[in-house]
Amino acid sequence: MTALAAHGGPMTLEAPRPHYQWPIIDASLEKAILDQAHRSLSDRDATGIIGEYEQAFAAFLGLQPGQVVSMASGTAAIHATGHILGLRPGDAILAPAYTFLATASPFAFEGIEVVFCDADPTTGNVSAQSLADRMQPNVKAVIVTHMWGIPCPMDEIAAFCAEHDLALLEDCSHAHFARWDDRPVGTWGDLAVFSTNQKAITTGEGGMLVARDPRLRELAVLFAHYNKRSRAEIAPSSAHFPFAFTGMGLKERMTTLGAAIGVHQLARAAHIEAHRRHNLDTFTKALDGNPVIAPIVAPERGTHGLYVLGLRFNPDQASVTRDEFVRLCVAEGALDVDAPGSTRDISAEPLFARRDPHASWTPAPIHPVDLPGVSAFQDAFIKIPAWGYSGDEELLDGYLAALAKVSEHVAR
Ligand SMILES: Cc1ncc(COP(=O)(O)O)c(C=O)c1O
Repeated sequence: MTALAAHGGPMTLEAPRPHYQWPIIDASLEKAILDQAHRSLSDRDATGIIGEYEQAFAAFLGLQPGQVVSMASGTAAIHATGHILGLRPGDAILAPAYTFLATASPFAFEGIEVVFCDADPTTGNVSAQSLADRMQPNVKAVIVTHMWGIPCPMDEIAAFCAEHDLALLEDCSHAHFARWDDRPVGTWGDLAVFSTNQKAITTGEGGMLVARDPRLRELAVLFAHYNKRSRAEIAPSSAHFPFAFTGMGLKERMTTLGAAIGVHQLARAAHIEAHRRHNLDTFTKALDGNPVIAPIVAPERGTHGLYVLGLRFNPDQASVTRDEFVRLCVAEGALDVDAPGSTRDISAEPLFARRDPHASWTPAPIHPVDLPGVSAFQDAFIKIPAWGYSGDEELLDGYLAALAKVSEHVAR
């Protein structure tokens, strides 16, 4: 067996940094950005690139134009959902404990109680059961995240919400290409949010709010846009029209340059998907039979969302810890093998113990909850990029070779 690079052996790959850049800035993207810069750096309505981007995004999800509203970020869009639904201090929302913080932080900011739910240890996602386990009388809504691209079981979650008369929100930031029962994620909930910050479809920074119900859509426009756009898109006969000049008090629109990148990306969505799916298949096949690490695949009724390629580390089959395994892979030159640090159990963060949004910023006592599924998933999780561009085969092959070499060394 060749020695590990960390122990003085040869590195498996020596590709220079960065190993993952997204999107690829080719001549056509450069032109799209420059053309837009000459046209306009800021649009007050959706008659230009913002409208073009929204139409393309709606079509990408199989929706009608006008069922999505672009925003400055995924966080801003999640913030808007709480207001659109009329959540207020005293209300609670069921949310995943294992997610990126912005799935829940905008609710906490508003003094809404976030009730954290456990995850399925094999997917990292909440289930109808893990939501039901934390149900309490003041819960008015549920938000789920399709973690790392794996779709949540949306039929049972939608049924749970219908049974308890709860609004259903989807955070699809990791799951642009995911489906459940062949229906795109983002089309199951009353409202859904896609961050487009460095995701499978990216605009640099940006967020998309899916609001299929016209009444919710009007509110989405009002919570993101004032005057020109709101007046153009809300019928004078609507009860919401009197707010069109001011909006609801915030301005959350995205940049035109971001929208130009989004239009460019969406025009290539089929290619991005095919390429990433091919990488996922290669990765899944290559790891078949590896005792130390296993690919995280979508459940039978789901389709992977292609944000990253996720792995589960099996500590019982290895002579090292998950973190040491990652370190050994990085030493082999697989620099983006990663045990994520910023997406993790957020349930014990002091932000979520606050109830009064106007109280001074002193931490309130935290009451930890037992989340065995979350711990099992996050302590074993490793990810690598899904890439999705010409020339990535070498990187994927190199990463798979590094994972195989380290696995062979550490397998018990
Ligand atoms: C699951 C999830 N939700 C929400 C967000 C927040 O989106 P943004 O960074 O666009 O504000 C992110 C961003 O990384 C995310 O991963």
